[in-house]
Amino acid sequence: MTGDQVRSTFLGYFERNGHKIVHSSPLLPANDPTLLFTNAGMNQFKDLFLGIEKRDYTRAASSQKCIRAGGKHNDLDEVGKTARHHTFFEMLGNFSFGDYFKEDAIKYAWDLLVNEFKLDPERLWFSVFEGDEEVGPDDEARELWIKVGARPERVLGFGRKDNFWQMGDTGPCGPCSEIHYYMGDDPSDPEKNSPHWVNGPGDTKMEIWNLVFMKYNRTQEPDGTFKLTPLPAPSVDTGMGLERMTAVMQHVKTNYDTDLIKPIVEFAASLGTQASPPATPVPPA
Ligand code: ALA
Repeated sequence: MTGDQVRSTFLGYFERNGHKIVHSSPLLPANDPTLLFTNAGMNQFKDLFLGIEKRDYTRAASSQKCIRAGGKHNDLDEVGKTARHHTFFEMLGNFSFGDYFKEDAIKYAWDLLVNEFKLDPERLWFSVFEGDEEVGPDDEARELWIKVGARPERVLGFGRKDNFWQMGDTGPCGPCSEIHYYMGDDPSDPEKNSPHWVNGPGDTKMEIWNLVFMKYNRTQEPDGTFKLTPLPAPSVDTGMGLERMTAVMQHVKTNYDTDLIKPIVEFAASLGTQASPPATPVPPA
């Protein structure tokens, strides 16, 4: 499957399930002083999550161009060290603005990955928010993953760093649930295809999709402290890395080996090997 087909499979699935397909917004966000670059598919829908804006649809899907090179979500330090980070990428996402919530988000994710993309469930791992002093554990997400077909030992709890998503210091946010894919050759390898590698070092496991259960708005008080208030309605924001999912579907070990990036690398390399054009003789003065 080509990268283009991964994108169209994702968007086609959500269109069939009642989502409005929305174009990517520009990389420079309009009217949002909290962001330098667009860092997620949800940015252009921020006011819909906050209930400030209404549109004639309550579910949407997009393939959003993103840059993560600064601010809250900064991948710059990872580029060149991992097989899966690059500062510019496309984020596939489905969104619900007070329409469906956790149960349907999890059902859609399982159905699309297992039944449409035909991923082997034995390669899939799921993470849920284990809770902290501010927000309780997301036991519901754990149960829902098991209900759709995940084995209980495949659902792991993590803290705020991995399983609570916010677009910046302020704005819509909520606990999230990530789907990780085992990239090794043999899924029956008990050492490598084990919980140890989820959010662990290296590229043995790769996060392919993040489902955010948007429930709160984080605001800053005049005294500088931050506060969570409930959103007008629970909502859904998801993000799947197009290049990562393409690496999975093309059975290659790095995003750079996909048909989305490899031709660019090859073209750049070919420029380096071309003989320099002969120097133009300078006419005598
Ligand atoms: N907004 C979420 C993310 O970027 C989906 O991971």
